[in-house]
Amino acid sequence: MSDRVVIFDTTLRDGEQCPGASLNPQQKLEVARQLARLKVDVIEAGFAVSSPGDFEGVNRIAREIRGPVIASLARAVPKDIQAAGAALKPAKRRRIHTFVATSEIHMKYKLRKAEDEIVRLAVAAVKLARRHTDDVEFSAEDAARSRPDFLFRVYEAVINAGATTVNVPDTVGWAIPSQFGELIRSIRENVPNIRKAVISVHCHNDLGLSTANSLSAVANGARQVECTVNGIGERAGNASLEEVVMGLKVRKDLFGAGVSVDTTEIYRASRLVSKLTGFLVQPNKAIVGGNAFAHESGIHQHGVLMHRKTYEIMTPQEVGWGESKLVLGKHSGRHAFVARLKVLGFRLEEKRLEEAFERFKVLADKKKEVFDDDLSALVEDEISEVPQRYSLEYLHVTSGTGVIPAATVRLKTPQGKILQGAASGDGPVDACYNVIDRLTGFKGKLVDYVIQSVTSGKDALGEVTVKLSLPAGRQGAHGRVEHGRAASTDIIEASSRAYLSAINRLLHNRR
Ligand code: KIV
Ligand code: ZN
Repeated sequence: MSDRVVIFDTTLRDGEQCPGASLNPQQKLEVARQLARLKVDVIEAGFAVSSPGDFEGVNRIAREIRGPVIASLARAVPKDIQAAGAALKPAKRRRIHTFVATSEIHMKYKLRKAEDEIVRLAVAAVKLARRHTDDVEFSAEDAARSRPDFLFRVYEAVINAGATTVNVPDTVGWAIPSQFGELIRSIRENVPNIRKAVISVHCHNDLGLSTANSLSAVANGARQVECTVNGIGERAGNASLEEVVMGLKVRKDLFGAGVSVDTTEIYRASRLVSKLTGFLVQPNKAIVGGNAFAHESGIHQHGVLMHRKTYEIMTPQEVGWGESKLVLGKHSGRHAFVARLKVLGFRLEEKRLEEAFERFKVLADKKKEVFDDDLSALVEDEISEVPQRYSLEYLHVTSGTGVIPAATVRLKTPQGKILQGAASGDGPVDACYNVIDRLTGFKGKLVDYVIQSVTSGKDALGEVTVKLSLPAGRQGAHGRVEHGRAASTDIIEASSRAYLSAINRLLHNRR
C-alpha cells in the first residue's frame, strides 16, 4: 500500500456549493492558485455541467493551473461527462469524477432505480469518462448508508470499467469513526480488484466527525482524503483540509503515511477562502482559528516558555501562522509595495495595483506600521471583485449621545454619474445603509454583519463582512445571498464599502 495520502481539495466544488459561498470564475482561479501553492494533489474545480459560470471556472483553472490534477464532478449521465471532459480539456493532468447514489433510500426515492440499473449506469459513466482521460474517479453517493454487499459489487464493476479511484462518501455525515474505518477495511477485503484503484473518502460533518472519520479511514487503508479549506461545504461542511493534513503530519507515527502539502501555506489558504466566501473562521477552530495557538492560562504560558512542546503539538510557523510581520511604512515606495505583494502571493493588474497603492499610501499615513495582514486585507479589497456598479465617493456621518444619527453619502457610477443623498438611522451604520438603499434602489435585506480587527492596536484596520439577500423577483434577482467585505481604519467607511460591494455582487450576479 502506498505510504502517501492523496489530498483532494473540493473547496471549489462541495465547499462552494453551500448557500452564500458562491465564487465567480476569477475568484475561483485565485483560490486555485493558492491551492497549487499549497501543493494539494487534486483540485476539484467545480461541477462543469451545472452552470455556464461553473463550466468557465473549471475551464479557466484547467487552462492556467499547473501542478495538481484538475477535476470536475459529473453525474453518471452522458451530458455531465461530456461537459466535464470539455471543460477539463486544456488541463495537463485531468480527472473526471462521476457519481451515482447506492443507498437504498437514495435509489428508491431519489433515483427510482433498482440495483442492476445503478451498476449499469455507473459502469457506462466510467467507460465514457475514460474516453476523455485515464484518470477517472467513481463515487458511490451515500456509501456510508449503503448495503456493504452492494457497494462491493459496484466498486468491483467500476474498477473493471476503468475507474482508478473509488470514493466512499459519507454524504450525510452519519458514520462514526470505528464503523467507517471498518467499512473501508471491508472494502479492501471484499472487492477482488481493489488493488487496481485508490480508495478515497469524502466525509461530511453533520455530527462533527468528518475529520475523525477521514483519519479512521486512512488508518484502515484509504489513500485519498477529500476535504475543503476551513471545512466549508454543504450543511455542516466537509472534512477540513487543515485538520486532516495536520492530523496526518503530527501523528505520522500512527498513520505512517505522509502528504505532499506545503503546510506553511495553510493559513494563507484559510484566510483567502474566508475572505472570498465571506465565511468567517471561528476563533477556536483547530489549526486556523484566531486562538489556535494562543495560550491564555498562566500555567500554559509558563510551560510554553520553558519548553514549547509542553503545550504545543505543532508550531504556528508550520502552518504559516507566524507573527504578522511589520513590513511597510509611509516612506515605503511603490517598488517595496509591489515586491511585498509578490511575496504574499498577490498578482494585480496594473490599474488595480495603482488603486491599491493609493489606498496603501492613505493607510500608511493613518497607521504608522503596516503589517502583512493589513496589506492582505487592503489588497483583497481590490482583487476578484465584480464590476463596481456603485463606488463610494464621499461619506459624512454625525452621531453621538443625544443626536439623531445621520449620514450624507455620495456614490459614483462607472459612467461618472454622481448620486447623493442623506438619511437618518438607528446608528451611523444604519443611516449610511438607508442612504445607500435609497440611492441604489436596493430592496433586499441585511442578513449578517460582522466586524473584526485585522491586527491589534487602536489604529488597527477594521474589517467588515456583511451578507445581503435579495428575494427572487426583486430587482430581477433569482433569490440569492451575497457577501461583501471591506477594511478601513474608519469602521463606518468599511461598513459602507462592504455593503456596496455586496450590492454590486447581487446586481451583477442576477444576470
Ligand atoms: O457528499 C457527496 O456524496 C458528494 C459526492 C458527489 C462525492 O459530494
Ligand atoms: Zn459532498
